[in-house]
Amino acid sequence: MTIKLGLLGFGTVASGIPFLLEENGDKITAAAKDQIEISKVLVKDEEEKTRLLAAGNDYHFVTDIDDIISDSEIDIVIELMGRIEPAKTFITKALKAGKHVVSANKDLIASHGKELISLAQDKGVAFYYEAAVAGGIPILRTMANSLTSDKVTRILGVLNGTSNFMLTKMVDEGWSYEDALVTAQKLGYAESDPTNDVEGIDAAYKAVILSQFGFGMTIGLEDVTHKGISTISTADVAVAQQLGYVIKLVGAIEETPSGLFAEVSPSFVPKTHPLASVNGVMNAVFVESIGIGQSMYYGPGAGQKPTATSVVADIVRIARHLNDKTIGKPFNEFSREIKLSDLSDVKSRYYFSIETPDKKGQLLQLAEIFSSEDISFEQVLQQKAQGERASVVIITHEMSKTALANVTAKLSEVAEFKVLNTFKVLGE
Ligand SMILES: NC(=O)c1ccc[n+]([C@@H]2O[C@H](COP(=O)([O-])OP(=O)(O)OC[C@H]3O[C@@H](n4cnc5c(N)ncnc54)[C@H](OP(=O)(O)O)[C@@H]3O)[C@@H](O)[C@H]2O)c1
Repeated sequence: MTIKLGLLGFGTVASGIPFLLEENGDKITAAAKDQIEISKVLVKDEEEKTRLLAAGNDYHFVTDIDDIISDSEIDIVIELMGRIEPAKTFITKALKAGKHVVSANKDLIASHGKELISLAQDKGVAFYYEAAVAGGIPILRTMANSLTSDKVTRILGVLNGTSNFMLTKMVDEGWSYEDALVTAQKLGYAESDPTNDVEGIDAAYKAVILSQFGFGMTIGLEDVTHKGISTISTADVAVAQQLGYVIKLVGAIEETPSGLFAEVSPSFVPKTHPLASVNGVMNAVFVESIGIGQSMYYGPGAGQKPTATSVVADIVRIARHLNDKTIGKPFNEFSREIKLSDLSDVKSRYYFSIETPDKKGQLLQLAEIFSSEDISFEQVLQQKAQGERASVVIITHEMSKTALANVTAKLSEVAEFKVLNTFKVLGE
């Protein structure tokens, strides 16, 4: 038998699928127990069809989704168009028509995954999306399969290649945020509107999906607080270096005694922590669990071949399930009631960079404000800044998110103090 695919979109990732089917055809066929063939490819319009054919792409290109949905020979629909619409409508149509679906669309899965997963369940079909988190790193299936016996307590991830590339340049070469962004855009790593990457939104999508697989809770995007890298200054980077840290945009999901907490934030990572060496466009997911302890899954978070490899792995898995007549089980079977953590249970050390007048008694006043929230200092650095101003850097001992909000509010009430930045500080 031949398993026939309908591709939706033929951009970067989709055009990497033929490479794998050709170069690794024997292994893929043996694993799938069937031939896999691209039957039809949906493109936007006739112009795109003509362009792709002229470029030597010998596929049956169509411009109407119904040509794929109504084709009873097509078993699996591969959505690689990106964005919410029309991807959501097309996937819904495919699932309703009883077709299995593979997607890499994190935006869509983070925002509407719940209803699509439930529709796939109702129809008894597969809906897989390994490539949606950290592109080439096989993290979702690893969590769903290999970590079933383990209990995950915290996931820390460097989940966005664009921001990690920029931060690596800022740390290793002293570049400003603006210079790093211009270069990332020139190299094609950042889009002309980089908001999703630099403001932590893309990483938040991935945190939503990781929460399902790691903790069994289908939280929403609104449950993930996110802060981006645009406020990081060269002074923050230099202080981090001086104190033995690198700054990374970290997605963190943890279970506290009261529930789940997920956030994306620039974080001071000790240079000795495995995540500190995740540089450039690479991604990593660091998992803490009661059985394995600590494990890290590292690799390319994007790119044509790595991402297409994850997509084809999903296709092979579906083919095998079809053969074994076990099709229809959800990608992730771990499901629990959503319980979000109290902020008083979410604890971390924090870095504060505060500008103060350069005069006696400032440190004492700061210490009084922090201590009124029961926050103590682990490290303090004081430097003369410009003119009559000084800069004070504080690394606190562990404190709660509630204390963080309270102390930030108290500091903002003192006109002479200007909090420049506050970042989370991870432990070893
Ligand atoms: N690139 C990566 O490394 C990577 C990694 C992980 C996950 N992903 C995910 O994979 C998906 C695809 O990414 P990509 O990088 O391959 O994107 P891409 O290069 O922009 O390709 C998407 C293609 O789909 C086409 N398209 C858009 N709307 C369409 C429609 N209504 N009908 C037919 N074709 C349509 C686009 O055409 P136009 O260009 O004309 O709009 C484009 O050719 C996204 O969800 C992305 O988030 C990508």
